[in-house]
Amino acid sequence: MIVREIKPNVYSLSAIDWDRKIFDELVPLPEGTSYNAYVVKGSEKTALIDTVHPSMTADFIKALKSLGLERLDYIVSNHAEPDHSGSIPAVLAEYPEAKVLANVKCRSLLKSSLNLPAEVLTLIQDNQVLSLGDKSLRFMWVPWVHWPDTTATYIQEDRLLFSCDFLGAHLATSDLYANDEARVERAALTYYAEIMMTYRPNVIKTLKRLEELDIGMIAASHGPVYARPEFILSLYRRWSADQTRPEVIIPYLSMYESTAKMVAYLVDRLMEKGLSVQPYNVVDLDTGRYASSLVEASTIVFASPTVLDGPHPAMASAAYLTNALRPKTRYAAIIGSYGWGPTMPESLTALLPMLKVDWLPPVNIGGTPKAEDFAALDRLAADIQKANTATSTAVD
Ligand code: FEO
Repeated sequence: MIVREIKPNVYSLSAIDWDRKIFDELVPLPEGTSYNAYVVKGSEKTALIDTVHPSMTADFIKALKSLGLERLDYIVSNHAEPDHSGSIPAVLAEYPEAKVLANVKCRSLLKSSLNLPAEVLTLIQDNQVLSLGDKSLRFMWVPWVHWPDTTATYIQEDRLLFSCDFLGAHLATSDLYANDEARVERAALTYYAEIMMTYRPNVIKTLKRLEELDIGMIAASHGPVYARPEFILSLYRRWSADQTRPEVIIPYLSMYESTAKMVAYLVDRLMEKGLSVQPYNVVDLDTGRYASSLVEASTIVFASPTVLDGPHPAMASAAYLTNALRPKTRYAAIIGSYGWGPTMPESLTALLPMLKVDWLPPVNIGGTPKAEDFAALDRLAADIQKANTATSTAVD
């Protein structure tokens, strides 16, 4: 791990996890990730902003010691999740004089997850300013842009924002800065979809709050540093805005090809109408790609055969994920095929209470699709086109 200066006397210590394939046994990491900590050396005091994942503690301590710090006054814990707080005990072992600064929620989480003694923890308040001498840190509590404790820390003199998970990207790269914007955008989109989308109202609130600041650089806790903050801020504004794009996402699976035939037919009809369509087979779902596609899509069509009166378990799992991610999608429909019982659409809808959508009429058929079933799919395609045309008009 190397130490790189991003502002005078402000250093990035980024633990690059090239090999990590999955986060929380849930989020695929096709391009790895990084856990970013930062050292701020003021003329009088020195602060460490966050630490790294516990698995990378040894390298992190070596990098920290390479700075030759005589003392470390503060460890600012922006967020208690272990990927950023996990090395705090090892840092305290090296620098026992350091105080761990955390808001009330973060303090409680740190106590429970790291067993830190109460005397090392110092409470910080929202908007509190802490002087390090020629630099000062302002702490802004921005809850629920991942966890309830999330804090952003701003160096006023350097116009530098440590944004915590907010605005981050799971991306292992040797680039210190987000110079390859196309690549970073893809990683940041997936990160937004998986981590932030469910908290969209809080994303909007946090973006609004950051307007108070004059931001010249953003250093998030994952991924490269943004030397051009407007790049990531404008993406977040777009992703979190109410507007959707006329895109149809179709999570589907099929057991005897009947549902597959219905999906193929519907995809063709939607394409004929000029709509963008993306089917995803949920049996081996790439959850990162799927979640990313939900960020701006206007419409979801769930396509499932019936198993024991409900959706196939793989579809139930995809529906559970979709519901948890709370995309801003406006329209949804259900299609599928059953053997003897037609109750699947009701069971599947019950798994999706967080989707605030207009439900279009389902097309749930017995056995293989026949002429009248294809006609019903024609009507669904027309309904989807009509809804999306109405949306575009409303947005314009
Ligand atoms: Fe990167 Fe919420 O931790």
